[in-house]
Amino acid sequence: MGRKKIALIGGGQIGGNLALITAQKELGDVVILDIPKAEGMTKGKALDIMQLRPHDGYDVNLTGTSDYKDIEGANVVIITAGVPRKPGMDREDLLSINIKIITDVAENVKKYAPNAFVIVVSNPLDAIVYSFYKVSGFPKNQVVGMAGALDTGRFRTFLSMETGFSVQDIHCMVMGGHGDTMVPIIRTANVAGIPITELIPEDRLEAIVKRTRVAGGELVKLFGNGSAYYAPAQCAMEMAEAYLLDKKRVIPSAALCEGEFGIDGYFIGVPALIGAGGVEKVVEFELTEDENSALQDTYEKVKKTVAETGL
Ligand code: APR
Repeated sequence: MGRKKIALIGGGQIGGNLALITAQKELGDVVILDIPKAEGMTKGKALDIMQLRPHDGYDVNLTGTSDYKDIEGANVVIITAGVPRKPGMDREDLLSINIKIITDVAENVKKYAPNAFVIVVSNPLDAIVYSFYKVSGFPKNQVVGMAGALDTGRFRTFLSMETGFSVQDIHCMVMGGHGDTMVPIIRTANVAGIPITELIPEDRLEAIVKRTRVAGGELVKLFGNGSAYYAPAQCAMEMAEAYLLDKKRVIPSAALCEGEFGIDGYFIGVPALIGAGGVEKVVEFELTEDENSALQDTYEKVKKTVAETGL
């Protein structure tokens, strides 16, 4: 049997944090892979976290590499390879460079870890996960994009900040593309089952929805030279955990839709059931007219970016 193996493609800010929290959760042995120029950095991060183990008490191994042979047989692959945004950039501005990177990554993952559950994090998310799917030829249940979990977590955070109630008791969902047209579904927002509209006035709720849509950009401005990494790492790790432990979690994720919600042939943020079968199902439900038209807007935006990939 042995331990599970988790390969992190890209060992930068998100990759490094993923290595740490994946090890701390003891999900399996961790391999951090980056470009040859960054191999020392991957080995350094791996060794540093190995030396944290005596204090934390976990026994998984971590290694750093630039050689894809080392990811052989990985159960989960999490891809953060690529460049992050700088202030003033949209996620779409990253496409031309990140599309080249994902093509190379997809060919190698296909060769060395053909059975892995693959979680894509690189931006522009919906187009990059689509590109991975096309280039690798993996079955659709084996490929997913991490975005909705993060966007939903941001919405929950702002609702908690507004009400002062525990973020644990706040539930809601953000659907659509991982960009400014994303669709926070207010109807699903509640505090321990109490509809959020009973607790927050409409104008404040509108302001929170707006802030959620550009929450990634708010962080890009604050950082000045990169984008969010702690929360994105946690969200990707949770998706890996749902798969490895067959948790059957329902996590808003970029999943391939084939007719669900009127979307066909594209990855977009929808509630996805994640368990041992990967994305086992897109959980469909009836949208209102307004929600549906907002989803169509974001769908058009995703289609446009995907068209630019040429795939
Ligand atoms: N193969 C493997 N790794 C690569 C490749 C490649 N072809 N090209 C670049 N990388 C590595 C970089 O060397 C870097 O270490 O990807 C890593 C990216 O790390 P950061 O620059 O720190 O970016 P990060 O904040 O982790 O974000 C990664 O996720 O959220 C998205 O928009 C974000 O696309 C970005 C990605």
